[in-house]
Amino acid sequence: MSMLRVVGLSAGYGPVSVLQGIDLEVGEGEFVVMLGANGAGKTTTMRAISGLISRQGLVEVAGDDITKWSPDHIVRAGVAQVPQGRGTFPELSVEDNMLAGAYVRHGGHDVRDDMHKWFEVFPRLGERRHQRAGSLSGGEQQMLAIARALMSRPKLLLCDEPSLGLAPLITQELFGVLERLNRDEGLSVLLVEQNANLAMHIASRVYLLETGNIVASGTSAELSADDSIRKAYLGF
Ligand SMILES: Nc1ncnc2c1ncn2[C@@H]1O[C@H](COP(=O)(O)OP(=O)(O)O)[C@@H](O)[C@H]1O
Ligand SMILES: [Mg+2]
Repeated sequence: MSMLRVVGLSAGYGPVSVLQGIDLEVGEGEFVVMLGANGAGKTTTMRAISGLISRQGLVEVAGDDITKWSPDHIVRAGVAQVPQGRGTFPELSVEDNMLAGAYVRHGGHDVRDDMHKWFEVFPRLGERRHQRAGSLSGGEQQMLAIARALMSRPKLLLCDEPSLGLAPLITQELFGVLERLNRDEGLSVLLVEQNANLAMHIASRVYLLETGNIVASGTSAELSADDSIRKAYLGF
């Protein structure tokens, strides 16, 4: 069964249509990357899947048609989004940001247990648990945004350009964390990126988005064997 199946998805902003009916799929335990230039509609895709903007077409999560579900219902169904620009609460402590990520759950000890587990995976967040999120470095804030999303116990993580504004080494560390979550926790991942070289390394499959349309898809090997795609996206 697919973790995520999107068929003929259209979405936009008021009279402006952005997505022109796209199809995509993330299999259970798969790591899928969506590549596309600035303005291609990557963030719009993520928002449409999460129910944050109105959409047409079909969105299925683990076989359930969630197209008409509300955003918090979709989170409860196991879909967590790490928004572009992170969306952490800078005035709240690291710990309170983490607890906010569990808002769809009903509290209790297991929420604290989960937080401690993620503090082991992200030790720098554990060390800084009482600090304001706004005082963290960019890389740490991105780790926090991911850890916070994990607090809702997602089956599918939607991650929107986590590398934006981060130094290459920090980006590599971040992608390493996502790779481990996928491999060790069985988390299905849909990652949006502009950095094709890095992203294609960890992707099991890749979609290319151009002005609201999927123009190519396949394994990393398949796409990098295509001359025009290699030149346009990989720069060699
Ligand atoms: N809130 C909004 N209102 C109107 N247009 C928007 C809004 N957000 C994005 N857009 C437009 O939608 C298109 C796709 O944007 P976006 O999905 O953010 O692209 P990407 O994430 O690939 O850079 C762009 O032309 C952008 O200007
Ligand atoms: Mg974007």
